[in-house]
Amino acid sequence: MSRDYVPAAGFRAFTRLYDPIMALTMREGVWRSLVADRLASRTGPDSTIVDVGAGTGTLALQVADRIPGVNLVAVDGDPAALDIGRGKDPESTIEWVEGQAEALPAEDRSADACVISLVLHHLKPATKAQALAEAKRVLKPGGKLIVADWGRPELVAAPGFLALRCLDGFPNTADHARGRLPTLIERGGFRDVRRFGRLNTIWGTIDLIEAAA
Ligand SMILES: C[S@@+](CC[C@H](N)C(=O)[O-])C[C@H]1O[C@@H](n2cnc3c(N)ncnc32)[C@H](O)[C@@H]1O
Repeated sequence: MSRDYVPAAGFRAFTRLYDPIMALTMREGVWRSLVADRLASRTGPDSTIVDVGAGTGTLALQVADRIPGVNLVAVDGDPAALDIGRGKDPESTIEWVEGQAEALPAEDRSADACVISLVLHHLKPATKAQALAEAKRVLKPGGKLIVADWGRPELVAAPGFLALRCLDGFPNTADHARGRLPTLIERGGFRDVRRFGRLNTIWGTIDLIEAAA
């Protein structure tokens, strides 16, 4: 892991706390279900979905449950986070793969959908652009990109987002604070970029965005 790498909960020692913090503070039942439903409506049992920066696997496991028979590849740069995900359901058919968002371990045009949930704000601007280019590379033409990440915070969520920026880094989160995520996705070569959800949490305002490769 490089010096710039931001683990799931900001610091490596906190990775074990990531799931309880998410459960308590992030309204994850609401937006993860919206993301899983959107993926289910865009893919099917034999589809391949790459979860980029899958972390402790909460979303990957939910999607695998929601779409029986899907081929789900959960990629993350942190083996400790992947171990937590794997341990949650050892029987799951999810493929847990150590790898970087900016150099995805997947073939060109091999995926029907890519999901990138709460990862892009961990990446420096240049790496963010590389990660989006990688998602485009591995998607089949017309394949779907689903992004869940921080958008420009609504007033009520602004103080929490400031705290999060202290933890995850100001350069990484600057585009998010300015609401530039849809523009970055478009610049990554995606079309039909549209927001399908937005909700406030203690840590900021999450935007749910869909685009086509
Ligand atoms: C906030 S967690 C989100 C995890 C999961 N997607 C979720 O929705 O809960 C961010 C994850 O991105 C991973 N990550 C950060 N930089 C990465 C990179 N360059 N390549 C792959 N994974 C990365 C971290 O290890 C961490 O697990």
